[in-house]
Amino acid sequence: MFISIKDAMKQGSGKVAVRGWIYRFRNSNKMAFLVLRDASDIIQCVVDREKIGEDVWKSVEKLLIESSVEIEGAIHEDKRAPTGYEIKVSNLNVVQFAEVFPITKDQSVEFLLDKRHLWIRSRKITAIMKIRSTVFSAIDDFFRSRGFYEVAPPILTPSSCEGGATLFEVKYFDDVAYLTQSWQLYAEAMIFSLEKIYCNSPCFRAEKSKTSRHLAEFYMAEMEVAWARLNDAVDYAEDLICFIVSRVLEKNEEELKILNRDIEKLKKIKKPFKRMTYTEVLEELKKDNIEIEWGKDLRTIEEDELMKKFDKPVIVTNYPKDIMAFYKPRDSKDPKTALCFDMLAPEGYGEIVGGSERDTNIEELKKSIKHKGEKQENYEWYLDTRRFGSVPHSGFGMGVERVVSWICGLDNIKDAIPFPRTMLRKNP
Ligand code: 4AD
Ligand code: MG
Repeated sequence: MFISIKDAMKQGSGKVAVRGWIYRFRNSNKMAFLVLRDASDIIQCVVDREKIGEDVWKSVEKLLIESSVEIEGAIHEDKRAPTGYEIKVSNLNVVQFAEVFPITKDQSVEFLLDKRHLWIRSRKITAIMKIRSTVFSAIDDFFRSRGFYEVAPPILTPSSCEGGATLFEVKYFDDVAYLTQSWQLYAEAMIFSLEKIYCNSPCFRAEKSKTSRHLAEFYMAEMEVAWARLNDAVDYAEDLICFIVSRVLEKNEEELKILNRDIEKLKKIKKPFKRMTYTEVLEELKKDNIEIEWGKDLRTIEEDELMKKFDKPVIVTNYPKDIMAFYKPRDSKDPKTALCFDMLAPEGYGEIVGGSERDTNIEELKKSIKHKGEKQENYEWYLDTRRFGSVPHSGFGMGVERVVSWICGLDNIKDAIPFPRTMLRKNP
């Protein structure tokens, strides 16, 4: 019976049968050293020509990297081996002889993206995908353990949530539809039955920016809660981020090591996070001679400048009302601003969460929809949610790849998703 490499190493001695792909290969006339890879780990395997016999040796000599093989042998500890164990091979069966693998050392980023379907086998991407999987399960566990229901939003939508500029239009029978930018408007309708809901769903934005933080297709973990105010949503966001980071630290120490991630930085991610208003951010930046006109959105460089001062996420509230999405309500205590927040990650990873209270004033909503150049008729169904038992409610969306990118310490968000889509890439 085949077991995983990790289980074989746990067993530590005696006979084992493992299978996987050739990760590294080196042979002489008498011995072959191959490093075998499976989903769990890698292990060095030694083939002795004399012991294995000429028949098997012939096929061993033809092995190239990424060939798939089944191996039987005796495992033992060996401090010099890459993962501390070695298998002395007693039998080897080649499942498929691989052709010459196109990926060799020191390839360009673009080449690796062209060969993404093969590059995902690398230790780096494998480690990231394991961490990503932990993040997904942490999101579920966090919300479910707090009494939230999971709700699947529609992906095809008739109108925009976050502004028309980044909508993807698709042919919809004889009409057009748009790929969802956020589940939010639907979530606002669902809280009247389920009160506390969440999702982790693909979102689409035709982002024209070629930054290391933007994808055209990404996952957003969103939540919406009836009766909740801005501070409640911020508290949930803070708790969620702490929960995710601690879960990754608990489950993925090995993967973080493979990625050379400084774990000490992640260990600091504990409540409370600094909370400041947009206006306070401008004052803070002014100390560093960065002048921003009140009312202008914070740009990446300004967010990065601010975050140089912090080693934990920062929550920025009360952005100017006029530049915010139509559903963000005016703060009656500071009417030029909205009851909204962004959470900025440390180490230059930018905005990881965006959220707000939702406007329940139907006349204000109508004005904002018009102000954004949208047609009210497209939002009549949404306005109905304010006509039948309207209650205060709040929610947020967390960019899953942004969080994975930060936790893994990646240079580019593209590595946080198996097959990235950007303005310049939809292949493979
Ligand atoms: O700030 P955003 O645009 O907020 C919303 O869409 C709200 N409707 C969410 C809500 O309140 N339910 O997006 C939320 C988060 C951002 O903070 C960012 O982390 C991520 O989604 N995000 C992206 N991630 C990768 N690529 C993109 N193009 C992204 N756009 C937003
Ligand atoms: Mg935002």
